[in-house]
Amino acid sequence: MNMTILGLHHITLVTRDAQRNVDFYTRILGLRFVKKTINFDDPSAYHLYYGDQTGSPGTAITFFEWKHALPGYPGMGGTHHFALRVADYNSLLRWKRRLTDLGIPVTGPYDRYYFQSIYFKDPDGVILEIATEGPGWTVDEPADALGTSVLQPPQQLAIANRDEKRILTTTWTEPVAEILPSMSLQRGMHHITAIGADIQRSHDYYSGLLGMQLVKRQANFDDPSSAHWYWGAGDLGPGTILTYFERDPKKEPPVRMGSGQTHHFALAVADEETQLEWREKLLTAGQRVSPVMDRVYFKSIYTHDPDGHIVELATIGPGFLVDESQADLGVSLRLPPWLEAQRENIESTLSPLAVPSPV
Ligand SMILES: [Fe+2]
Ligand SMILES: [Fe+2]
Repeated sequence: MNMTILGLHHITLVTRDAQRNVDFYTRILGLRFVKKTINFDDPSAYHLYYGDQTGSPGTAITFFEWKHALPGYPGMGGTHHFALRVADYNSLLRWKRRLTDLGIPVTGPYDRYYFQSIYFKDPDGVILEIATEGPGWTVDEPADALGTSVLQPPQQLAIANRDEKRILTTTWTEPVAEILPSMSLQRGMHHITAIGADIQRSHDYYSGLLGMQLVKRQANFDDPSSAHWYWGAGDLGPGTILTYFERDPKKEPPVRMGSGQTHHFALAVADEETQLEWREKLLTAGQRVSPVMDRVYFKSIYTHDPDGHIVELATIGPGFLVDESQADLGVSLRLPPWLEAQRENIESTLSPLAVPSPV
């Protein structure tokens, strides 16, 4: 059995307003709405899925609607932000122009050495990044020695990223009304960045226990006195990358879960057999692990990183086409078979939700 983490599977966040969320992620960011369902553990709340045309693992961005949630904030044991990816720098500039013209403040482009990035917030305050796929990890280490050196950001980078006037005015010269194919965010995630108290302990967890590969031992480019490490899976490409900011627990309060925060993220495993092996391995290592949960579109187990962040291991299949055709993904409310008998009740508690016609 090949017990390998294959990459990122999905990220699940919290919104206060399902309609506003759908409008933002589909109309503004251009993701495909792939599933309208409910939180299987709380059928009174929507669970919304976005992604590429089929919601492939690594492209799936999901939201629980918690109507009465207070705004959360990032902190220890939480995710700080996640990044979607584009192919090139021009696409990044086009996104900056498009978002800015829509009244969404954007910071960047910043040179993150391994990629270029812009940052903005969704309507719930989720910190989003768009990152270019390249130039990649080999700009400062050979491919066969990634993660072997403790690195510091090069000085010219720090100087360039402090040139706020130039950064502010760097954008696409023409308005960008349409999302061009080259800009598509349906390529999926680039990375997820979380916050932990002890980077070596995070390394022991992701590398030692979960078998991911250390990719970079860098400093936080915005605070070079603190560590920022990267781990990846498979080819270590975008979509397989997790990174952690190390923060001082005396200064960094715990994450406050609420709207605009990540509830959990999921890493991909090949199939149910592999997942069961992972479950045994985690239990043997003394970790708390949930039973296998049937999420219809995949099977899941839930555990925690050393800082308490919920980490899910989800199977690649069967995927979102299991109960809808590709053309109809997201059109109607889908319920797991065991809740179909309660459909009328469930539908009566949910607010109407207008979703864009599939294209
Ligand atoms: Fe990032
Ligand atoms: Fe999940």
